[in-house]
Amino acid sequence: MKIGFIGAGKVGTAFGIYLKREHYHIAGYNSRTQASADRAAQLTNTPVFERKFDLVEISDMIFITVNDDNIEKVAKEICKMDVDVENKVFIHMSGVLNCEVMNCLHEKGATICSLHPLYPFSDIEKSASEIHKANFTLEGKGEGLNLVKDLLIVNDLSHSIIASNNKTIYHASACVASNYLVAVLNTSIEMLREIGFEKEMALDTIKELVFQSANNVFDYGPTKALTGPIARNDEKTVAMHLSDIKKFDNNWLEIYKTMGRASMEIAAKKNSETSQVLWDLLL
Ligand SMILES: NC(=O)c1ccc[n+]([C@@H]2O[C@H](COP(=O)([O-])OP(=O)(O)OC[C@H]3O[C@@H](n4cnc5c(N)ncnc54)[C@H](OP(=O)(O)O)[C@@H]3O)[C@@H](O)[C@H]2O)c1
Repeated sequence: MKIGFIGAGKVGTAFGIYLKREHYHIAGYNSRTQASADRAAQLTNTPVFERKFDLVEISDMIFITVNDDNIEKVAKEICKMDVDVENKVFIHMSGVLNCEVMNCLHEKGATICSLHPLYPFSDIEKSASEIHKANFTLEGKGEGLNLVKDLLIVNDLSHSIIASNNKTIYHASACVASNYLVAVLNTSIEMLREIGFEKEMALDTIKELVFQSANNVFDYGPTKALTGPIARNDEKTVAMHLSDIKKFDNNWLEIYKTMGRASMEIAAKKNSETSQVLWDLLL
């Protein structure tokens, strides 16, 4: 089975390296720019295809790893080509989009699916080495879906099947767990910097607290993991926080109050009575 990649960005390149290391036959790369295609081809020791047509024609499985906004456009471009796509499998790796964006290919007899690795691809080499730790979700239609399932099973890649209409909420959840966690941590660091901590010192100061809190969520669940003034119903402490935060930054105040209310929801599962004073303070 020959595997081609259209879109030689972070995900396409890293996943290509991973598959190549697992001894799959990578047909090569097509990308918008020569530079990206050259880099991916060099890292995987495979050829560059200037024309999508040539890559699609010789590949059995084609990953369309372009940015989300261009997946449909690329699929339609292939649909207009005089190439037989029957029995070929087209896969995109978007978290939010389902396979329907490639429907014109399915109408021509191809299998279409979305295969999403829940993993942040910031560095290509690191991602290629660690992608086996990610959880994948799969949805799609066509006979070739079994080939994709086999690829996941043979390589022991953890995965689940997702309903096409659940992808948006699934992706929003991932966004909260990853991107918004980064934003929350950045707010904490900014607060420390504001009162004179150097950047490195601010990072060192919160590191153990962050790791332990995250571990506690995975070990004991969010209810037991929640500690701090809201879990203890310490109204005066929260009032002090709010009063001083107001002096610095309105954004911090919004984040503190929103996350405070979310913490109150968790605390309500812990304590039978939550403080009305706290609810009023955090509104
Ligand atoms: N980044 C993540 O952490 C992550 C995680 C999971 C899933 N994903 C998904 O993986 C997919 C790719 O994301 P990415 O982060 O790898 O994006 P990326 O680094 O921006 O790469 C996208 C690549 O697509 C190429 N491209 C765009 N339009 C094209 C076209 N018309 N024809 C050929 N190539 C085209 C670009 O080529 P040039 O460089 O040549 O211009 C670029 O290299 C997306 O669907 C994304 O949602 C991303």
